[in-house]
Amino acid sequence: MAKLSHIIVIFMVFVSSIVGAYDVLLGAYYRLAGNNLPPPWEVVQLCKKYNIRRVRLYEPNLTVLESFRGMGIDVSFGVPNNLIENMATNHTAVEEWFINYVAPFIGDFTINYIVVGDKVIPGLDGRILQVMQSLQGLLNARNLGQVKLTTLVSITALSAQSPPSSGAFDPTIAANMRGILHFLWEQGSPLMVSLYPHKTYFYSGNMSLGYATFAEENFSIRDGDLSYNNLFDEMMDAFYAAIDKEDVGDVAIAVGETGWPTCGHLNITTTSIAATYNRNFKNHITSGKGTPMKSNIYIQGFIKSIFNENEEPEGESKCYGMFHVDSTPIYSPVF
Ligand SMILES: *[C@@H]1O[C@H](CO)[C@@H](O)[C@H](O)[C@H]1NC(C)=O
Ligand SMILES: *[C@@H]1O[C@H](CO)[C@@H](O)[C@H](O)[C@H]1NC(C)=O
Ligand SMILES: *[C@@H]1O[C@H](CO)[C@@H](O)[C@H](O)[C@H]1NC(C)=O
Ligand SMILES: *[C@@H]1O[C@H](CO)[C@@H](O)[C@H](O)[C@H]1NC(C)=O
Ligand SMILES: *[C@@H]1O[C@H](CO)[C@@H](O)[C@H](O)[C@H]1NC(C)=O
Repeated sequence: MAKLSHIIVIFMVFVSSIVGAYDVLLGAYYRLAGNNLPPPWEVVQLCKKYNIRRVRLYEPNLTVLESFRGMGIDVSFGVPNNLIENMATNHTAVEEWFINYVAPFIGDFTINYIVVGDKVIPGLDGRILQVMQSLQGLLNARNLGQVKLTTLVSITALSAQSPPSSGAFDPTIAANMRGILHFLWEQGSPLMVSLYPHKTYFYSGNMSLGYATFAEENFSIRDGDLSYNNLFDEMMDAFYAAIDKEDVGDVAIAVGETGWPTCGHLNITTTSIAATYNRNFKNHITSGKGTPMKSNIYIQGFIKSIFNENEEPEGESKCYGMFHVDSTPIYSPVF
């Protein structure tokens, strides 16, 4: 019996890695920071039409979640930053949140991730683990082990990032990060990161556009024995190096948000470059090549964003959309 179930598990892992090889590991970030966005049911139709099989929401919204019920699209959402402080010490608040936003949708769509805090490390790093532990208890009580808890960090959580092998968490957060990473390791959850190569490219001055958009064939930089031909891998490996230094075991990384705006930074934010970056990002993460430091793995990722959002701050923040608000593509669809 033990052997048979073992074989079944191996078989399922095998099947899911084949299925995962192409489109299922890629999702889109569905934000609501606009007053002219199409209604959620229309967004669901857009996702189905253009093969977006996973979405990530910043926070759960009941109207939106209702629209995804039974649609065969996986949904991830976050515990919003303004609730973390209370939820860390108030179990009633965690239960309420779970009953409002998780329990009603069990079985109606797959929840891939619940993101406990979005770029609040440093800041709320002492609170995240408490909320994760509370929520995990509620998930376990309903046998929902496949729903993974994580938190999203940006490059500002690192005190060093270049070369990638020097990657390390800021000393002020390292102890809290170690606790969080240990939890992620125990649960088999990835750490979620926010990665925007275009920002580094924009401020670097001397980098080739190809290096920032996975389009560089003949140039690489070396870091010890490893060689890099794209900026994304460098940034990923800086996080992997930081995780390895905390010595808690292997914790994977999922890309919670990446993308390339179509306006806001003069001639580097064009629709053509945005399309190239997003398409090459998809090909890169679904190739199974991994990164130089962690090779031969599929990487899960969410492209920001479905729409241009007119309530975002002025500048490139308004320009991440892959679709116009009338649901037509801004450039040839990536998914
Ligand atoms: C949820 O989303 C709908 C549709 O986008 C929006 O009208 C509504 O204001 C949102 N609700 C909350 C509580 O944010
Ligand atoms: C705990 O959270 C609930 C729900 O948010 C709130 O009504 C209650 O006042 C909180 N309790 C304490 C002690 O803060
Ligand atoms: C850009 O310049 C910096 C310092 O001026 C140097 O360290 C870096 O290697 C250069 N990058 C490229 C891609 O040439
Ligand atoms: C890379 O090198 C090959 C062989 O030298 C050359 O044919 C090709 O045009 C180069 N590609 C770029 C993008 O420079
Ligand atoms: C943008 O314009 C600058 C200045 O004219 C030029 O040096 C740079 O190569 C251009 N970048 C792209 C991506 O076209």
